[in-house]
Amino acid sequence: MTAAYLERRGQIKHYFDRTAADAWARLTSDAKVSRIRANVRAGRERMRATLLSWLPADLHGCRILDAGCGTGAFALEAARRGARVVAIDLSPTLIGIARQRLAEESVAGAITLLAGDMLSDQLGHFDYVVAMDSLIHYRAADVATALNQLAPRCSTAMLFTFAPKTPLLSAMHGVGKLFPRGDRAPSIVPVGEGQLRILLAHGHLRGFSPTRTERVASGFYTSQAMELIRQ
Ligand SMILES: C[S@@+](CC[C@H](N)C(=O)[O-])C[C@H]1O[C@@H](n2cnc3c(N)ncnc32)[C@H](O)[C@@H]1O
Repeated sequence: MTAAYLERRGQIKHYFDRTAADAWARLTSDAKVSRIRANVRAGRERMRATLLSWLPADLHGCRILDAGCGTGAFALEAARRGARVVAIDLSPTLIGIARQRLAEESVAGAITLLAGDMLSDQLGHFDYVVAMDSLIHYRAADVATALNQLAPRCSTAMLFTFAPKTPLLSAMHGVGKLFPRGDRAPSIVPVGEGQLRILLAHGHLRGFSPTRTERVASGFYTSQAMELIRQ
């Protein structure tokens, strides 16, 4: 991977593993949160439901990679529908939270939780790869390269989200750049859908074509899902 990817990955790991781990645990729980965060939570739930709706209702016999799984909500839903899931995240702290949350679940045995990079070639092959909001901090070229690395390990479809280039997200990205580096969140990188399609088409993606896409906006949360189907 590029130096830019590795630098970004380090910032993301630090952010989710240290700076924001508690806030993230809360956001992904049922705990009461501010109205702003409640809107974000509602948007993320809609996005998770959208991605789940793009998978077959019955996932028995399917192997799924939950790439950048956070606290494991998507993995749990997929396992409840019969999938065997490898759920991996850079943050050992979030994987620890996922492990605690899944411990009580009857489908826990169908989920393998790992701390590490979703692009590791040690994870095996999958029917579906799902990356919900885990590529939104990377440059468009690195998103395309990441999908290209995952492609040979996926037999049916890859579902991922990107931060669409809206005026609000672009402005927030610009404002974020004014602050000094430190513990601030690694900025979300807005990506134009057209630019992404060109990158994916130009040899960056072996054997897959973009099909459905759907945008979810809820308060400060804006994210767009894209489905890539193996041809
Ligand atoms: C915004 S959170 C989303 C988590 C989860 N997918 C969800 O929707 O609840 C992004 C997550 O992606 C993870 N992530 C980012 N890059 C990754 C990589 N290269 N490999 C594994 N996880 C990664 C981060 O550690 C973080 O937990």
